[in-house]
Amino acid sequence: MKLTPAQLEQFDRDGYLFFPGLFNPDEIGRLAAEVPAIYAEQRPENVREKTGGVVRTNFAAHMYNDMYARLARHLRMVEPIKQLFDEDVYMHQFKINGKMAFDGDVWQWHQDYGTWLNDDQMPEARAMNVAIFLDEVNEFNGPLMFIPGSHKQGVLAAGHDISTTSYPLWTINNQNIADMVAKAGGVRGGIVSPKGPPGSMILFHGCLVHASTSNLSPWNRINVYLSLCAVSNHIRRFKRPGYIAHRQFEAIQCLPDDCLLKDYPVATPWKNGTPADELRGLWKEAA
Ligand code: SIN
Ligand code: MN
Repeated sequence: MKLTPAQLEQFDRDGYLFFPGLFNPDEIGRLAAEVPAIYAEQRPENVREKTGGVVRTNFAAHMYNDMYARLARHLRMVEPIKQLFDEDVYMHQFKINGKMAFDGDVWQWHQDYGTWLNDDQMPEARAMNVAIFLDEVNEFNGPLMFIPGSHKQGVLAAGHDISTTSYPLWTINNQNIADMVAKAGGVRGGIVSPKGPPGSMILFHGCLVHASTSNLSPWNRINVYLSLCAVSNHIRRFKRPGYIAHRQFEAIQCLPDDCLLKDYPVATPWKNGTPADELRGLWKEAA
């Protein structure tokens, strides 16, 4: 899948692109069917909401689940990012975010590259997210919110919030958010939230400021995120566990377009458990 010149221009201006219904119901059905078993496992990769048992985010399923190992190599997700960076990419992070009905908690305003820089010493913002919706995303179940054009600000000052939710995040203060929203159009377009059917895909820049509210609706909002990084821009510090910030920098080799519907052999090396080294944060700085 190649981005057109008009899409490249739009991405440069807004910091994101939205593709409603890009994956078909069969493909999404197969991915969604795996989630209950993944979330039911007692593994460190499952981070639960503050309230208890419900999974907020699952890391690295592509290392131990066959369907997600194939998704991690899907050319509809990987090729546009290679095109944007004009370079091969590796998987920096892989998540299945729950935002479950009634229990899904907020994600505060942040830039992903803020965390990748502060925690992982990723040299440049040559990494970005691709999200796909496993559920319909509507105005009630906690859609992602973006401030269009905010990626142009580069890396913003952020504070490490380790108390608001069950997952620590480098967050941006309210005054900065208010100023950026005003600059982006205020009530007329200063915040946008792409909504659509299961199978919709969003690409968004590592510096795009985003957040999501809690989910008080009776509908889950499960999104899968691939965070893809240009190979030459790999992280320099292994402070976070390897299942959160990966330490293998090999270029992703894509599978054919029908890889979610047909069996293609893929490695799932963590099937029988997470390697001990990947559980620990290591302080390693490469030259
Ligand atoms: C994130 O920003 O990493 C997650 C946001 C969400 O899933 O709503
Ligand atoms: Mn984020």
